[in-house]
Parts: sequence; C-alpha cells; structure tokens
Amino acid sequence: MDRILVTGGTGYIGSHTVVELQQAGYSVVIIDDLSNSNREVIDGIERITGIRPDFVEGDCTDMQTLSKLFADYPDIKGIINFAASKAVGESMQKPILYYRNNLNTLLNLLDLMGPNGVKGIVFSSSCTVYGEPDENPVTEKAPIKKATSPYGNTKQISEEIITDVINAGAPFKSVILRYFNPVGAHPSAEIGELPNGVPQNLIPYLTQTAIGIRQELSVFGDDYDTPDGSCIRDYINVVDLAKAHVIAVKRMLEDKSDAKIEIFNLGTGNGVSVLELINVFEEATGVKVPHKIVGRRAGDIEKVWANPAYANEVLGWKATSTLADTMRSAWAWQLKLRERGVM
Ligand code: UFG
Repeated sequence: MDRILVTGGTGYIGSHTVVELQQAGYSVVIIDDLSNSNREVIDGIERITGIRPDFVEGDCTDMQTLSKLFADYPDIKGIINFAASKAVGESMQKPILYYRNNLNTLLNLLDLMGPNGVKGIVFSSSCTVYGEPDENPVTEKAPIKKATSPYGNTKQISEEIITDVINAGAPFKSVILRYFNPVGAHPSAEIGELPNGVPQNLIPYLTQTAIGIRQELSVFGDDYDTPDGSCIRDYINVVDLAKAHVIAVKRMLEDKSDAKIEIFNLGTGNGVSVLELINVFEEATGVKVPHKIVGRRAGDIEKVWANPAYANEVLGWKATSTLADTMRSAWAWQLKLRERGVM
C-alpha cells in the first residue's frame, strides 16, 4: 500500500489518524519535533495496531530535514499535515512563532511535493475561519471572517496558499478539512490528548478537574445569547475525525474526484453548550466536575456548529460516536494517565 507522510503525527489528532491509516493498510512515516508530544505516543500506536510507524524526529520548517526525509522515503504518495502550533491565546503572545511554524511548514511541503511525486496533501484547517458565523449550522459556503488571532490567520492564509499553488498548476491535489472541536480519546485509552502545562481547552481541563489535578473548572460566561447562557460548540470525536482523513487521502490518491481542491466541514451537526457538556460528562461517567461560572474569555465565539452534509454526502463520512461515549473515552484516558504515573 502507499506510504503517507504524517507531519505532527505524534500529536493529538495526528496520532489517532496514524492508527486509522495503519488499520486501513497504509504505511506511515511520521515527522514530529516533539515540541508538544512525546515518543511514548509511538508505543501507544504500536500497541493498538501491532505496527510501529516509522518516525523521524525533526522540524518541518527546516527544508534540509524535509528534503532528506523525501530522499529516504521515495515511496511517499500523500501527506497529511498536522505539524502546526495550535493554541489561540499563545498565538497572540507569539505571533512570529505561529506564522513561522505554520506557514513555513506548509510552504516547504508544497515545494517538495511536485519534485517527489506526491499526489496530494490533506490540510488541517479549522472552523475558526468562519469567525462568529451569521448563521448556524455553518456550511462550507459561509463567508470567511477576518481572523481574530494569529493562529486563525495562519489557517486562513494556509488555505489561500494551497489554493494559489494548485491554481498555478501544481501537479497535486488537496483536501482541506475544517475541524470543529475535536475531543475524546482512542477507545483503547492507549493514546489521547496530553497538553503541556495547564490546559487551555475545555475537555482536558474538565477531566483534570474531575480527577482532582485542578480544583475547579471555570465556565467562561453564562450571559451569552444561548438557551443556558454558555457558549455552544460542535464537539467531534477524535477517532471519527481521524477516519475522515483516511477517506480524504484515498480520494486524492485514487483520483476519485476531478476537483483539485476540496473543502469539507468536519463536525457532528449538533451544537452543545459548555454546561450541557459538563452534564453529559457527569452522567456518562458518574463523576462530578466542580465548576463555577466566571466572566467571558476574550475572543470566544458565542456559538458555532457544523452543517456536515457535504462531507456526509461526498465523502460518505459521518460522525457516529455519541457524546456520552466520547466523554467516557476522555475519562478513561485521564485515568490511564494516572495509572501510568504521567499525571
Ligand atoms: N471553556 C470554558 N472553560 C475552560 C475552557 C473552555 O468554559 O476552562 C469554554 C470556552 O469558553 C468555549 C468552549 O469551552 O466556549 C470550548 O473552548 P475550547 O478552548 O476547548 O475550544 P475553542 O472553541 O475556543 O477553540 C477550539 C480550538 C481552536 C480552534 C477553535 C475553532 O482549541 O484551535 O476551536 O473555533 F481554532
């Protein structure tokens, strides 16, 4: 089977995607600089799939590292690009880091694809490109709003770069996937989300509170124009999300579409509020989450959820996990981290 290069493959979404790729029969080589992950993730992937993916420790912003990788692996047919910095707040403090990491990585990959006979690249984009949408659920035709953070801007610019390069006649295709809020962990609890330091995102903060590492979860605002006043998101199971990448890769490598660039929303289609999510977690696990309402977090979107109909129809993909199962998987992962003495 074809070899796929997964950049950022030891990260949260990357590692789940490597599992799905290997289970679908693809060979994988991962490149990751381990800046926000660790080597043990590869052991977890091996325990789930029985296959140890090839791994190169390296920085994708370095052209020489990437050139050597393509020379060492002349059989790479597709790329899934997860290598990027991803914290909205941090990007406000360190914009140069974000523009450099996210854009140089993409430019290097696009530059090397043609000469190395790579047929396509799947790009990790985000619903952040829609900003505060005028209408929910959001389709792919919704207008792109001016980005509110350097992180969001790198996603917008990256989509434009890919479009310009392909329209200029590059000999490859791209599928751009706009994720909503990925959550949960692999059902085996062998891999999951492991943020460095104090979590910024809801679910890791919630599970760390439930297990007692954090005292209390702060709910950022209960005065939004939503039924219970807290923000609404579309929480998508990370394994469901990973499976969409396998379909996207296959679609490009097997030329299933005439289009050279395609864009899909990946979400469930369900909007869930922060307070509802806490409830689902507590009911699914039987574990209480101490929480308090605090003020709004600067820059938060009030409500956004996906219309995933296009991906459902064209990719034949659908998010199938229930939110309760997803919450149980996040909890099982948190318990596993304690069992292993990680935290
Ligand atoms: N929230 C809390 N308390 C917390 C953390 C989060 O109440 O401690 C709330 C937020 O206010 C928001 C919701 O939980 O309403 C989800 O917040 P996250 O930080 O988990 O996720 P965001 O929706 O802010 O951001 C995510 C990704 C980004 C991506 C963005 C797209 O982290 O990378 O979705 O909208 F760009």
